Amino acid sequence: MRKSRLALLTGNRGFFGQTRKPWVSMDVAKMVRVFEAAGLKPEVMPFHAVVNGVADVRDAVVFYAFSQKPNLRQYIIDTIRFLDNGTNFIVPRYDLLLCHENKGYQELFKRRLGIESLASFFFSGADDLSGYPVPFPVVLKSVDTSNGEGVFLVRNEAELVKRIRGLERQSLATRLDLFRRKYLRRKKQHPYYPDYDNRTDCLQYRDYIRKERNFILQEFAPGLTWDWRVQAMAGKYYVIRRRTFKNDFRASGTKLHEFSREADPALLDFADGIFRKMDAPFLSMDIGKTAKGYCLFEFQALHFGVNSVIKSPGYHSRDGSAWRFTEARSEIETEIASGLVRYLDGREPDRG
Ligand SMILES: Nc1ncnc2c1ncn2[C@@H]1O[C@H](COP(=O)(O)OP(=O)(O)O)[C@@H](O)[C@H]1O
Ligand SMILES: [Mg+2]
Repeated sequence: MRKSRLALLTGNRGFFGQTRKPWVSMDVAKMVRVFEAAGLKPEVMPFHAVVNGVADVRDAVVFYAFSQKPNLRQYIIDTIRFLDNGTNFIVPRYDLLLCHENKGYQELFKRRLGIESLASFFFSGADDLSGYPVPFPVVLKSVDTSNGEGVFLVRNEAELVKRIRGLERQSLATRLDLFRRKYLRRKKQHPYYPDYDNRTDCLQYRDYIRKERNFILQEFAPGLTWDWRVQAMAGKYYVIRRRTFKNDFRASGTKLHEFSREADPALLDFADGIFRKMDAPFLSMDIGKTAKGYCLFEFQALHFGVNSVIKSPGYHSRDGSAWRFTEARSEIETEIASGLVRYLDGREPDRG
């Protein structure tokens, strides 16, 4: 699925995250050299040039950078939606952009692709819960956090509501302002609103400014002392086993990593199955295990952490019906660019 053009969309000053940290860019010139060696003609351009009509992108493969900064994230989403017009081939596709750092849409997209994994619910506030048969214990995740920060195990409904309220907690300044509105304001009269009363107004205002957070509830995979991060790079699979802290079910954010030269073929089969359904060149998967087999906690198709690739002693790949480990030191720009080329070469042109 090669198009004549390859548009590489970057942030300002050619920024293409991420490497060591989200604020450190990849070396785009290095990627360009790999694309050129593969016979492609990459055109590097910033998002703003596309948005403002300076660059005209059509009939192109569009491969794009990402940013976690809220304004840039929205700018990128707007730009990619604009380019997703039937002439361009967006990599990774728009749905996967929406999945990024949005565990709620991830659950919807998994359902659309028929990926059966852990049962889940997706809500926009605690008030929506009533009437749904939530099985406890359950894992609560705010949709937009990482490193295990918004992930909690909750054992009953009271604990769940308390946690959700905790996610909505207002700043000290706002809490002081609410106190002032409730107790310290002079009694006021509004001639056109005779029912006005300071206390009612304050309570209505408090509900109005409540910082509701979207969240998912995901079936709990009990008893795990580690999970697996499997990073798929167009046919290469890098595997890390991540241990949890003692007395904590979360492996993300602990930094207790082991690279696996040996991996359970069933784990690789599971990761490979998910990867193929997602139809992307790259996919980072957080995987656990239940009595029923492997399960997917979350995934990212872009702007993933790169340590799993560059610190790994090598990668797994399919060898007929078996799996083979290849010793290799990998450089992220080369893996990204050559992975994209492999993906495009292996792809039929009829993505639905
Ligand atoms: N449904 C679950 N059952 C058991 N453990 C889970 C579940 N979901 C997540 N975890 C654990 O919590 C960690 C963080 O969850 P994850 O969904 O990956 O969010 P984050 O974006 O914070 O990394 C995972 O690495 C895993 O160890
Ligand atoms: Mg994770």
